[in-house]
Amino acid sequence: MEVVIVPDAAAGGELIAEAMAQLLRRKPDALLGVATGSTPLPIYQALTAKARSGAVDTSRARIAQLDEYVGLPADHPESYRSVLRREVLEPLGVGMDAFFGPDGTAEDIQAACEAYDRALAEAGGVDLQLLGIGTDGHIGFNEPCSSLVSRTRIKTLTEQTRVDNARFFDGDIAQVPHHVITQGIGTILEARHLVLLATGEGKADAVAATVEGPVAAVCPASALQLHRHATVVVDDAAASKLK
Ligand code: F6R
Repeated sequence: MEVVIVPDAAAGGELIAEAMAQLLRRKPDALLGVATGSTPLPIYQALTAKARSGAVDTSRARIAQLDEYVGLPADHPESYRSVLRREVLEPLGVGMDAFFGPDGTAEDIQAACEAYDRALAEAGGVDLQLLGIGTDGHIGFNEPCSSLVSRTRIKTLTEQTRVDNARFFDGDIAQVPHHVITQGIGTILEARHLVLLATGEGKADAVAATVEGPVAAVCPASALQLHRHATVVVDDAAASKLK
């Protein structure tokens, strides 16, 4: 695992966007796994700026989703599919025909999860997977004590995560779905390159456990230690509890 410490979130966003741009110059139709939440926004902004300046052509990129709410219509503004369309696909000029995501409205959710894992494999696998990290060490929606070999599956959100995500639903927790589909930790580990960005002091304990703690299900992100090409990019604040 490689750990890169940067001064702030903007520098982390720029560094990772450049890594994505280099990948796309080498492989224009690379399959990029993307995360939602606040942390990756500087990455998407920096990559969009590169695309608009002509420094990289993103139009042939393929985009894969990490997780999705269950039961939220795909066109709901806060479904992760909608969020990614707004924040990633449209700015990068990528069409929905190049988008891979699980169907959170399927009648048979288990079958939808299995179909998604199959679709990723048939697409040649994820070339670069972006990850954020929860304050409890979760990646995707693999909360503490998730199996380190888990596949894409349905999970129940913890009350804390629903409280955290209420900010996207007018502060109304009643609107936050109870269930999500998330790529499993085993699924995430199949990507060729994992890139985790963590910014802010609130992530410092989780970063220390991820990088310096034992590989253990209590800190799902510690599974990155098992990967042959994992890069953890942290700002000074998120790095503050590293030894
Ligand atoms: C979102 C996701 C989550 C977030 C994590 C951090 O797709 O997979 O694991 O990355 O909850 O969220 P932020 O970046 O909002 O602190």
